[in-house]
Amino acid sequence: MTGVAESLRSVGPVLARTLTNALVGLEAKPVEVEAHLQRGLPGFTIVGLPDKACQEAKERVRSGVTSAKLEWPLRRITVNLAPADLRKNGSGFDLPIAIAILAASGQINASRLAGHAALGELALDGRVRSVPGTLAIAEAAHRAGLRRLICAEESAPEATLAGIEPVPVTDLGEAYDYLCGRTQPRSVPKPRRCRVAYDGPDLADVRGQQRARRALELAAAGRHPLLLAGPPGTGKTMLARRLSGILPPLSAAEAIEVTRIQSVAGLLDRRAGLVSKRPFRAPHHSATLVALVGGGAGPRPGEVSLAHRGVLLLDELPEFARHALEGLRQPLEDGTVTVARDVSRVCAACCDDEPMPMWRTRGRTPGMHLLSVLAGRSRWSSLAGPA
Ligand SMILES: Nc1ncnc2c1ncn2[C@@H]1O[C@H](COP(=O)(O)OP(=O)(O)OP(=O)(O)O)[C@@H](O)[C@H]1O
Ligand SMILES: [Mg+2]
Repeated sequence: MTGVAESLRSVGPVLARTLTNALVGLEAKPVEVEAHLQRGLPGFTIVGLPDKACQEAKERVRSGVTSAKLEWPLRRITVNLAPADLRKNGSGFDLPIAIAILAASGQINASRLAGHAALGELALDGRVRSVPGTLAIAEAAHRAGLRRLICAEESAPEATLAGIEPVPVTDLGEAYDYLCGRTQPRSVPKPRRCRVAYDGPDLADVRGQQRARRALELAAAGRHPLLLAGPPGTGKTMLARRLSGILPPLSAAEAIEVTRIQSVAGLLDRRAGLVSKRPFRAPHHSATLVALVGGGAGPRPGEVSLAHRGVLLLDELPEFARHALEGLRQPLEDGTVTVARDVSRVCAACCDDEPMPMWRTRGRTPGMHLLSVLAGRSRWSSLAGPA
């Protein structure tokens, strides 16, 4: 390794860039990470609307670089995350920031970064950790024409789904070796879609209830919302929980959509690879509007998005806050959730593009226990007649 102080002595300010993407809802927007080293008192500043987790990258990157036995430039370091008006959330910027600083300080040849995006959180010992939303970010990098994504080893299978070639790295030293041309990326098999047998509750176990079963089948076939109403103990919850069992398996495109959402929400089981089961979400009736629809400071998908292509069960419907239920109307009518946050608008999927019949509850109905099931809106034509 060359002495950074030596390489910088003759040069004034040094600038290097890496590319990554920032998650905005379920979409990823391109972000350029610029590192600028200047003479002056050593310091490290990150600008470009970073959130708290992104600000804390300063400590992780500094420790990660020194732990990887690389040289931390004793310069005034300014990192800019452009575009400056887009809020940057999370710790996925750690790796691109570290690489930009290594390139700006001459430890990596900046020309090697062409065609590459980077994504990952750094541990203090230099290990690279996976971050939520890798699939959406890899897709955006692929769309932007980038060839390779330097990312954590666990995230690499997810990146292959996006069609970009992953460069899996376990630590910053490995990324450094790759960018110095000493190693080639390991090949990563694309996760296969395994057809898992449905192991949830079965509609075949229900005794009688022919009309309710027929209603469930029609809701599943036509992708209709369903309201089950009746006296306590008549099996409303029991029936609704069996709806997933009569929905068809996810198609390949649907599986990618569901995987993308679960990845953004940090719910993805990385060992399982591609999601193969339709989601089933049954939030408690104390759920807030944000929990149902999505949003928050670093906008997260809500239950309606997490149930995309699956079932959203609102058990004990009248107990839900009225404004939370009213908040579901727009997503169900439009098929997307749009949440305004500061300077950005955030869109998240909930259903498909077709309008869905509107449903509403008018306050509580004494003595009636209501329950609503929103069936996964996939096309399914094989259903015929009552069971
Ligand atoms: N037709 C049926 N076949 C088999 N089991 C049934 C049937 N109807 C009800 N049960 C059983 O009765 C019990 C109560 O059903 P469940 O909890 O679904 O009722 P509910 O209508 O949701 O009641 P509540 O309004 O109090 O929520 C469950 O254990 C369920 O398995
Ligand atoms: Mg019930």
